[in-house]
Amino acid sequence: MADLSVKISNTIFKNPIFVASGTFGYGTENPELVDVSKLGAIVTKSITLNPREGNPPPRIVETHSGMINSIGLANIGVEKYISDMLPVYENMDTPIIMNIAGSSMREYIDVMKKVEDVSSNIVGYEINISCPNVKEGGMEFGVDCDMTEKLTSELRKLTDRLLIMKLSPNVTDISAIAISSENGGADAVSAINTVVGMSINHSSQFSNIYTTFGGLSGPAIKPVGLACVHKVYHRVNIPIIGIGGIVNSDDVIEYFLAGSCSVQVGTANFRNPGITEIILHDLNNYLNEKHIDSISSLIGRVKTHG
Ligand code: FUM
Repeated sequence: MADLSVKISNTIFKNPIFVASGTFGYGTENPELVDVSKLGAIVTKSITLNPREGNPPPRIVETHSGMINSIGLANIGVEKYISDMLPVYENMDTPIIMNIAGSSMREYIDVMKKVEDVSSNIVGYEINISCPNVKEGGMEFGVDCDMTEKLTSELRKLTDRLLIMKLSPNVTDISAIAISSENGGADAVSAINTVVGMSINHSSQFSNIYTTFGGLSGPAIKPVGLACVHKVYHRVNIPIIGIGGIVNSDDVIEYFLAGSCSVQVGTANFRNPGITEIILHDLNNYLNEKHIDSISSLIGRVKTHG
């Protein structure tokens, strides 16, 4: 049996297949559809200080090989998250990574403080500095090195749990933002969030998304995700969690070769909520057939021609 376990800072995950924020609710909704105990980890949807309704519809549209969303960070807010979700996690043996979003540095800090003030078994935080669908905050942090480093270091002071910064591909140089995250004390970075996109109905001549622009995800962005991971891999010493268009075990292998130490499956969950179990099964077979002892031995091993 190949060793599928992966290590991020001091935390060991039983396998590298995580589900991505915004594609798996709060991690508590899918018990009949998915055996969540098989997942490496669940990353929750983004939680903000106050509840949010999100953007008006239409806020999701399918595209060639992907989809565009502009949900606008709809969520129940941190108080309800603490009262309703944290107790449920106590009976789950899947590691939970809470995703936090904010419209100001104060908001990110306040959300994390509230969670740190109570007892819970969450293993860490993924900090959303890359949402393209809100007017304030979100991507504003993830496109600016100084703001990224300052936010990371402020949050680092609040927690000993895993601190993971989720990076945007909608920047000139994603590795500069990754370096700022590392300098601020992040344990890892996730790459990538969605790519800004647009979809138009030629017949009605309307934009298919209320906010005009949204975030493109799915197989259409896999080459962008691989490139971002590989660029970041050469510039930082912290682990990278690869995200973008993963639908099968071959995609996982490719993300490892590019430099990822684990991956998140996102949009594919909407098509088949059980996809992660298939990916895990096929990944195991692949490694056994190729006599690869440990998935981690593949990290960054892509052969380039230069
Ligand atoms: O609109 C949204 O809620 C998307 C969030 C994200 O891409 O981080």
